[in-house]
Amino acid sequence: MGIDAIRTVTVIGAGTMGSQIAMVSALAGFKTYLHDITDSQLQKALESLQFQMNRRLEKKRITETEYKMAFARLHTTTDLTEAVHTTDLVIESIVEKLEDKRELFKSLDELAPGHVIFATNSSAIVSSKIASSTKRPDRICNLHFFNPPFKMDLVEVVTHDHTSEDTTQTVVEFVKQLGKTPILLRKEISGFVANRLLGAMVREAVHLLEEGIATHEEIDLAAMEALGHPMGPFALLDMMGIDENYYAQLLQYQESGDPSMKPSAILQEKFERGELGRKTGKGFYTYSSIRPGL
Ligand SMILES: NC(=O)c1ccc[n+]([C@@H]2O[C@H](COP(=O)([O-])OP(=O)(O)OC[C@H]3O[C@@H](n4cnc5c(N)ncnc54)[C@H](O)[C@@H]3O)[C@@H](O)[C@H]2O)c1
Repeated sequence: MGIDAIRTVTVIGAGTMGSQIAMVSALAGFKTYLHDITDSQLQKALESLQFQMNRRLEKKRITETEYKMAFARLHTTTDLTEAVHTTDLVIESIVEKLEDKRELFKSLDELAPGHVIFATNSSAIVSSKIASSTKRPDRICNLHFFNPPFKMDLVEVVTHDHTSEDTTQTVVEFVKQLGKTPILLRKEISGFVANRLLGAMVREAVHLLEEGIATHEEIDLAAMEALGHPMGPFALLDMMGIDENYYAQLLQYQESGDPSMKPSAILQEKFERGELGRKTGKGFYTYSSIRPGL
């Protein structure tokens, strides 16, 4: 179908990731629909986007015209049919639960025209697990953005055995049109590349904390001041959302059966208490303002 056929993009899920992915798409010139199940979530996403875009304007990263045009291209709706009936590319960014995603893609398959490409922004669920809930496995792949999508340049494009070459190339070109850098992985692995590396670091950081070797602040300081990381693993977990990390680790554990991949007691405890990081105002650190993607 080629990149020229992509004019309208739909992002499903207006949380930490979806809201910014939609704005990145609108900034790149695509008419963009942002869908969520409640008006209140869409309102929250718009407020957060206004805050972020105002900061970008103040820092002269975008012009006033780009600001206005991007908001003019962005449409929010709770109506799934409206969100997809004229679209060319759907990027799903809802909660990291396989059954929820499969159910959503089944509905999307019925509502979206046949030419539409489906991508999932999942951090850990490979697209072959979703493809069978639709009649278009050749038009499905992973399109994995990093948090926050405004800032992070890399996007992992991951195909499965039945993704067509046309879909692959169109999606790779789409990432370039967003002004981002794609890496194309033709072999599926849960967590892909960057999050496999991150998972190894987080497991070790949590182990050091649970053993009482160092506090989470000290471990973050070591990562930043000794290894040159822009933020430590605990600050990163808070930014990503502890629930997302918990679900991803659980999936990797269930898939591999390897006990070392099991979510640690401390992550499980935070997950159960609802201390999910920045989005709830408390995770490993405490936050005074609750804004997704900050
Ligand atoms: N948080 C990160 O750092 C990060 C990074 C890369 C990828 N991801 C992936 O992105 C996806 C979303 O993560 P997030 O952190 O933005 O989550 P989030 O909890 O901030 O947002 C999820 C949103 O999806 C909405 N939603 C849930 N079910 C829905 C449905 N059936 N239809 C429409 N909307 C629905 C929720 O109302 C919520 O607004 C996950 O698959 C995650 O693995 C997350």
